[in-house]
Parts: sequence; structure tokens; C-alpha cells
Amino acid sequence: MSSSPIVLAGAAIATLALVSSPSTANRQAAASTPGPRIVELTLTAAPARLALLPGKPTDVLAYNGTVPGPVLEFREGDSVIIHLRNQLPVPTTIHWHGLHIPSTSDGSALDPVAPGATHDYVFRLLPGSAGTYWYHPHPDHETGYQIGMGLYGALIVRDPNDPLAGIPERLLVLSDSRIAEDGSVHFADPASEAGAVDRENGREGERIFVNGTLDPTLTIRRGEVQRWRIVNAAAARVLRLSLGGRPFLHVGNDGGLFERPVERREILVANSERVELLVRGAPAADSTLTLSTLPYDRYIPQTRPRDWNRERPILTLRTSSAPPVRARPIPERLRHVAWIDTTTVSVRRVFALSQGLINGRTMDMARVDEHASLGATEIWEIENLVGMDHPFHLHGFQFQVLDRDGVPEPFPSWKDVVNLPKHSTARIVVRLDDYPGKWMYHCHILDHEDHGMMGVLEVK
Ligand code: C2O
Ligand code: CU
Ligand code: CU
Repeated sequence: MSSSPIVLAGAAIATLALVSSPSTANRQAAASTPGPRIVELTLTAAPARLALLPGKPTDVLAYNGTVPGPVLEFREGDSVIIHLRNQLPVPTTIHWHGLHIPSTSDGSALDPVAPGATHDYVFRLLPGSAGTYWYHPHPDHETGYQIGMGLYGALIVRDPNDPLAGIPERLLVLSDSRIAEDGSVHFADPASEAGAVDRENGREGERIFVNGTLDPTLTIRRGEVQRWRIVNAAAARVLRLSLGGRPFLHVGNDGGLFERPVERREILVANSERVELLVRGAPAADSTLTLSTLPYDRYIPQTRPRDWNRERPILTLRTSSAPPVRARPIPERLRHVAWIDTTTVSVRRVFALSQGLINGRTMDMARVDEHASLGATEIWEIENLVGMDHPFHLHGFQFQVLDRDGVPEPFPSWKDVVNLPKHSTARIVVRLDDYPGKWMYHCHILDHEDHGMMGVLEVK
């Protein structure tokens, strides 16, 4: 690193520090676009007291005092140094969900940070990685608790030549963490029947928070198109989003934009997945649309919540009475996204998901479940053997879904989570490029993950 970076200790919002372009050559290459930077910031994980429900303080755990934590914005090419200060009474980590970065900075359960300690995560964001990601703790057995208490935040990587630049953007970090009437974050007693239901279904809350608030209203002008980056940070809830039944454009998944926008009227976003949408408001001034989540049956009949088939409102989109605007045209082609070349696939693996188990086993931190070669292209068949959904996540590498239940995916997109509906199979292709090390794969229902529905892939 060429010069001493600026430390933003304890900043409430991690405004990004621009330090320098790494080299002159680089600066010239990027003459027309903002060059890569060295960005350094501090995230402090500590107890805090916030007003999440009107008038009622909630004791939370927070990054830099806010829930969600600060939005971290980087650019492709940036070198990033993040100091985690653990002011919790227990070990924690920060995992950079979806980022393709060295395993030593992955923040998995294998590298806990002790209470009172500081740990530095150092990584570079490679070209092509622009997208919407998120960060959260990953301590052994306690991930669900720490995320549920408020430790989660969004991370955006920007493309200096973003094809959608200029379109107004909104970031929606959605979470249904369960808050009791008295304002406290509620976790069921593990010994109770409710605790058993949570272990089965994953913990769900009644209401869906948007960036830590309830029932917000967003405004849009007539004619305006907005780009919504949506993060499902819930422990278990699968969102089936609808904007009053109106069409919108789906332009990106976990690992960034598609090649072309696709029109949809609803979209499934499993917990830990991200989507990017282009939306329009209702055509008439002073009218509203509701973004809601429609019923989605991911449950086994025995523990399916009684009100599973209820539609839940998330936010209101109000078309303002301001004069209409002429929207920027939406490019027909966003970027090039090719299928991973599968002609060199040397390894095929099968991952069988049953209730709480992957390939019949629970997580053992001392065991390596799968051995792989650095640079290999592999096809993984993920089979859900049971009657509830499990979203399967791989650390460190973006993959592509090839097919679901034998039906080919219509176009390639970059993913780090694939939801496996009840009794279904998906095949994914992944290139284990750049970064050797131990990588976790797991069900992202946090209660399942914490009870060991996880394994270790070692890439050498
Ligand atoms: Cu969102 Cu193992 O991670
Ligand atoms: Cu992850
Ligand atoms: Cu699961």
C-alpha cells in the first residue's frame, strides 16, 4: 500500500475514505473513470439501545450503533481494510457474504475474534464483482442469535461503468427479526415447543423491517424509474415480493447485473439472497402501491405457521404530485454474462440435504468434507430430500445455476445462494478460482446452520 490510509474510527456512517490510487499506471488506465482506491474503515460490534418500535427501546447488538449497520460502498478494484472491534462479551466474526476474496478474510466460524479484540479484514474487490452483498457475524452456533440481535448490514460494490448509472437508487435491507411487545428482541426458549418450531422452520418475526424501520413510505415521481437493491437479511423467511401485482424489471441477482432485464410481476427472494429491480410507481399522482410479500409455503405441514397464507405489507410506494419526469431509457443490454465453460468440468459432487444434515452429517470444524483443486470447474448437484425448503449457500465463490429439477435456467446469472424447494434438485456450476483455503457451505436458515447443517470445502 502506497501511503498511510485514513482510519474512520467509530464513524456512525462509514463514509468512505479515498486515500490514493494504488499506482500511476493504474491512474492512467482509469483516466476516464474513477480509479481504484485504498479504503479503510472501522466497524465496532457492541451492545446498543435503539428505538426499533415506536416509543420502546430495544437492546440490540449493532455495528457502529445502528441496525442495520452502515452501508459499505466500494468500487471494483478497491483495496479494502476493515478493522473489526469486538466490544461484545462473546466471540464474533464478520463474514462478507458473497464476496470473492481470500479465505483468510472470509470471517467464517473458523476464525473467531475474541471479546475485546480487534481483527483486520483485508481484501481487494476484483473487476466484474459489482453487485449487492451483505455482511454479518458467523460465530460457531451463534450466527442466528447475533444477526437476530441486529448485526447485519449491506455492502455495495459499484462498477465504474455502471450501465444503470443515473437511475435513482434505493437500498432495501429487509429483516423480520422477532421483536416482542415490550420492545425486546425475542428468542424462544429452546426447551419450549416454540423453540422446537423455530429449530424446524427457522425463526420468523411477524413484521418486516425495512432498513430497521416499519412501514416506511418511499416516493417516486410520475414517469420515474428507480433501481431497488433488495437484501433479504431474515433468518429464515422467504420473501415472495409483489408491487401491487404490477410488472417490474428484474435486472440482477446476488453477484450483480444480468445481461438483459427480465419482466416479472413477482419474485422469490430467499433469506440471504439479493435482487436488483427496476420499478415504476402507480401512474396517477398522489396514488400508492404496496410492496408486500405474498404467501409462500416453504414449511413442513407439522410446523407450518397458522397464518402462513397471509400477505404481509412491507412498504408503501407513493407517486408524488410533483410534475412527471422523463425516465432515462433502460439499456437493453446491461453487461456481458457468459455461461461458465463446462467442457473442462472434472469433478461432480452431490450434496444431499435432509433435515439438519448435509450428506448425512452435521458440521465438524475439524473435518474437511470436500477436497477440491484450485482453478477447477465443478458441477454440484444439490438435492433436497425433505419436505421443506433449504437455501444452500457457498462462501467465497459466485456460481451459476444450470438447472432446477432438470429445467435449464433460461440465462446465466451470478449467485451465491440457491433455494432448494421441497423435494427438488438443482445443479450449479462453480469455478474455484483464485483463492485456496477452507470454505463453508451451508443452509442459510440460520437455525439450521447453527445446528450444524454445514460443511467445509477445502480448495488447494
Ligand atoms: Cu451469509 Cu456462511 O453466510
Ligand atoms: Cu457467505
Ligand atoms: Cu435448512
